[in-house]
Amino acid sequence: MKKILITGVTGFAGFKIYHALKNSGNYEVKGTGRSSGESVDFVADLTDLESVKNMGQHFSPDVVIHLAAMAKTDICERNKDDCYAANVISTKNLVEMFPDCKFIYFSTYAVYNTKKGNCDESCKITATNHYIQTKIEAESYVNPLNDYIIFRPSVIFGYMPLKIKTKNYFMQLIEMVHDKKVMRSPADQFFNPVSIDVVAEIIGLSIEGDVSGVFNIGSNEDISKYDFNLMIMERFGFNLKYLEPAVADSFAVKRPGNGTVSSMKIQFTLSYRVPGISEMIDSLYDEIKENPDIPGV
Ligand SMILES: NC(=O)c1ccc[n+]([C@@H]2O[C@H](COP(=O)([O-])OP(=O)(O)OC[C@H]3O[C@@H](n4cnc5c(N)ncnc54)[C@H](OP(=O)(O)O)[C@@H]3O)[C@@H](O)[C@H]2O)c1
Repeated sequence: MKKILITGVTGFAGFKIYHALKNSGNYEVKGTGRSSGESVDFVADLTDLESVKNMGQHFSPDVVIHLAAMAKTDICERNKDDCYAANVISTKNLVEMFPDCKFIYFSTYAVYNTKKGNCDESCKITATNHYIQTKIEAESYVNPLNDYIIFRPSVIFGYMPLKIKTKNYFMQLIEMVHDKKVMRSPADQFFNPVSIDVVAEIIGLSIEGDVSGVFNIGSNEDISKYDFNLMIMERFGFNLKYLEPAVADSFAVKRPGNGTVSSMKIQFTLSYRVPGISEMIDSLYDEIKENPDIPGV
């Protein structure tokens, strides 16, 4: 049974992927967090090499899935040194401690910045903000390894209980509706949102298939952020007055205008098809329709 270490399990993706892999029964899974909590097997500040070494003395993984990061663009912009430490130094420390493992690193689709979008993995990468800069630098510590995967996912969405402070794209919308606040959403910014369940499935298949390299992950349809939110609002039966279209330039932090990526490479490699956006939203609806956190369904 392969041994897997997942960093950042108090966060959205880490929490969900930890449980998906553990529940599969195929792996021995351990999680790291900065503080103790559900699914945290090792408390470690990954920016501290001694803390990482200490963890490595207690567990020898075959696979490291590195998800811990300062992942919010605006927070990174305001706390550049902390963002650098959380995103670059932590990656450097883990690579140094686990050089012979399969190392799976989560970068971001936002490393691409082209007008035409639909970027495949060979597109030029450039940073439009500090968060992206740190993700690009962290990638440079991972890609000299013998056995690595760098995933560049589009926006990942899924359910997390409202009481958990970490907010993914979907839960931000839920929270706004829950608090009866209006969400302004760019109608001129396009992306390929993908559900966390699909991401977890792709990780499992990539481990089993012993895949390596750089791969985008996203849905096969390009959609504006406003239209995606609208699809969710309509599927969940929310009052549409809580959603307003906006232009991307009116937001403080700049993001690539056309953030669309092609995920054909991972789908071809795994012989796997990412479901349609409405199918992923339907699955999410079925998973949580009875949930008291979800307002007014
Ligand atoms: N969510 C998306 O849409 C998306 C899209 C593309 C790429 N990604 C990438 O996927 C990864 C996971 O994203 P996410 O949305 O799950 O982020 P998240 O919810 O903000 O979780 C980040 C996790 O990293 C941990 N962390 C931060 N600094 C740390 C440090 N110094 N030492 C140890 N742990 C630390 C956090 O711990 P605390 O709870 O202690 O803060 C938390 O567990 C990130 O690398 C992100 O860049 C995410």
